[in-house]
Amino acid sequence: MEQQVQKKRIFSGIQPTGNLTLGNYIGALRNFNLLQDEYDCLYSIVDMHAMTVRQNPAELRKACLRTMSIFLASGLDPRKNIIYFQSQVPQHAELAWILNCFTYMGELQRMTQFKDKAAKHADNINAGLFTYPVLMAADILLYQTDLVPIGEDQRQHLELCRDIANRFNGVYGDVFKVPEPYIAKVGARIMSLNAPESKMSKSSPEGCVFLLDRPEDILRKFKRAITDSDTERCVRYDPEHKPGVANLMQIYGSAAGKTYAEIEREFDGQGYGAFKAAVGEAVVEKLRPIREETERLLADKAYLESVYRAGAEKASYIAGKTLRKVYKKVGLLAK
Ligand code: TYM
Repeated sequence: MEQQVQKKRIFSGIQPTGNLTLGNYIGALRNFNLLQDEYDCLYSIVDMHAMTVRQNPAELRKACLRTMSIFLASGLDPRKNIIYFQSQVPQHAELAWILNCFTYMGELQRMTQFKDKAAKHADNINAGLFTYPVLMAADILLYQTDLVPIGEDQRQHLELCRDIANRFNGVYGDVFKVPEPYIAKVGARIMSLNAPESKMSKSSPEGCVFLLDRPEDILRKFKRAITDSDTERCVRYDPEHKPGVANLMQIYGSAAGKTYAEIEREFDGQGYGAFKAAVGEAVVEKLRPIREETERLLADKAYLESVYRAGAEKASYIAGKTLRKVYKKVGLLAK
């Protein structure tokens, strides 16, 4: 008899921040798509994480549906993956509380994202911002996750998640699977187009391409992208001396499916102008079908609702099993 092999499990999440960026796509969403056949995947729109900064309620609701539409439009198949909103599966918050009691202040104080965000939102350094990585650990550990596809900026949070899991397992036995990060070699840290020393992020919109940007805006942003002030003005992959060019090569490589050697050959003897225009065009073409499909899906609220309701139900079933085990281990009376 043919033996059924249990697929390994993947969990990842993206915050519903209005409009996802090209960094989110290349660093995470693109990989979610590549992994969906081989693994048993849960992809969550982590709306509770978004609460750590002030949100306009109507805008947040729209951003949630937009992010769900982008997930589907980028190719994630709801029949193969569990796609859901974090807030609709209460076990995330429940496990986060317990894990808070297994996480040290010193560990959270060391998180670079906390330090950055606290500096940016100095008027609102709330406790949620501080314990954010614990909620992230709960997201992952609830599903006995093997692999977590993320960009480079989330590596430190994943390491903390592993430490929390090991600490808990050390006291209560093997309750949680200890997850591994899945960080792609190319594209794990897409940099800002107009400041290649910092990460592409929505806080600097001119250096950031949004997935739903209009083609003319995308082309403009690439046209103005910083390359380098090297005297040797040629397209060559050298992240140390030509960080701007290397960043554009990563983007072009993933949008057009080309290797660095192929890109170097393609632009041999040409200036940066032609190169930047080609990167812009390739990104426009890559994003066009995603943008069009997102718009179509956004108009179909009933379909979106059917996807996220079914997703939350399936996720909750799996999460419930882990949480019951945790309650039992720590001495809480399960319902
Ligand atoms: P978030 O919403 O900031 O980003 C979502 C994913 O996109 C990746 N990313 C990038 N990758 C490459 N280059 C960039 N410029 C870039 N910007 C963002 C991020 O690394 C991430 O993988 N805390 C997480 C969300 C989260 C999560 C989780 C992730 C909550 N729970 C559990 C994995 C597992 C966050 O804020 O990602």
